[in-house]
Amino acid sequence: MHADSVAEKALATTEARLRALLEAAVDAIVSINERGIIEIFNAAAERMFGYTAKEAVGKNVSMLMPTPHREEHDDYIARYLFSGQKKIIGIGREVVGLRKNGTTFPMELSVAEALVGDERIFVGILRDITDRKIAEHALQASKEKLETAVAELQAKNDEIRQMSQQLWLAAKLASVGELAASIAHELNNPLATVCLRVESVLMRTPPDDPRRRALEIIDQEARRMGNLVTNLLQFCRRGAGQSSTVDVSEELTKAVELIEHHLRKRLINVVQEFEPNMPTLFADRQKLRQVFLNLLTNASDAMPEGGTLTLRLLNGKMDNGQDALIIEFVDTGIGIPPEHLDKAMEPFFTTKEEGKGTGLGLAICRRIIQEHHGSIQLSSELGRGTTVRVALPIRHGTNVRQLREKM
Ligand SMILES: Nc1ncnc2c1ncn2[C@@H]1O[C@H](COP(=O)(O)OP(=O)(O)OP(=O)(O)O)[C@@H](O)[C@H]1O
Ligand SMILES: [Mg+2]
Repeated sequence: MHADSVAEKALATTEARLRALLEAAVDAIVSINERGIIEIFNAAAERMFGYTAKEAVGKNVSMLMPTPHREEHDDYIARYLFSGQKKIIGIGREVVGLRKNGTTFPMELSVAEALVGDERIFVGILRDITDRKIAEHALQASKEKLETAVAELQAKNDEIRQMSQQLWLAAKLASVGELAASIAHELNNPLATVCLRVESVLMRTPPDDPRRRALEIIDQEARRMGNLVTNLLQFCRRGAGQSSTVDVSEELTKAVELIEHHLRKRLINVVQEFEPNMPTLFADRQKLRQVFLNLLTNASDAMPEGGTLTLRLLNGKMDNGQDALIIEFVDTGIGIPPEHLDKAMEPFFTTKEEGKGTGLGLAICRRIIQEHHGSIQLSSELGRGTTVRVALPIRHGTNVRQLREKM
């Protein structure tokens, strides 16, 4: 055989082999020349992009890329040829492909360059990584879901811990109330005995006896103690409320009397500014007392260095225009920072040291005032003082009927 034809045959065999390899490859293989013109477009590339090799070969490779890469691709090649600066060649990276039908998909691209004769060609090997991307996204999503679930669980856990703490406090508060009530009850009898004995001794003591003054003081103090015990019992009493006609100014005065000693010790000056002839309210006396005592205690706690507590009682209106009785507790204490103002009435919100405040005071006040269809508002200026304004609607009809029943 002629040497040339042997060489030709070998060449043809090699080319056929190469072609078979190209067509059998799982990955898309696309080669371009220096001008970006497609020269090889294998079967996998046909499946991937939807173009036949016939349609693709001879066209600019930018047809396989979406905007903006499409416009920039020629520049990429030019820049590379000019500067040797590699962006993709030999590196491989994820890019976006454009199919004939206009849809895009993620693909992994690696590019190699080769010299054929004196012309340089670039061979790109492409793999559609849509499935991998989907899996990655699914993994990411489930990871995020898991993280959210863990965070939620953590929050619930914290909530439960906080709730059990609150329950414990509430239980403690309830048992302290019961304890106070039972002690007060126990104190009643011996106190009554003391009062009776002092009275009888006093009756047998002549007016000019020097010991008489001491006896009078004992009598007075024992009575005061008796009042305190009675009040304490009333304050601790629980259960279904009972409504009756209530003279609010009288109740306010009584509440102040109950903690008078405490207020005096703290150098707190109480000023009462009551409008005269205020109408009576149809209300639950016990509960109103509880409100007043809570608010007085808060005001007193807010003035550790002393100050002035002004109690105002005046006629006013509810937001809906209904006649109302307005009670204001104005202190010159430490005040409430703005960020605490909304939270102060929430159950268990307290800034007081452990064991001192339960944070229930204002929450109870709000509930009781709501039960009376009234409103309670806090306003405060840090370092200057706090005003608690309670508005209780006056239901004229009810009050008049109640008064008649009393007469
Ligand atoms: N007059 C006031 N001046 C300043 N801060 C106040 C006043 N009244 C309430 N606060 C703030 O609001 C918080 C909640 O008050 P609340 O009466 O509900 O609970 P407490 O007084 O802390 O505890 P408790 O009343 O159960 O003993 C207080 O801890 C305090 O920080
Ligand atoms: Mg309180």
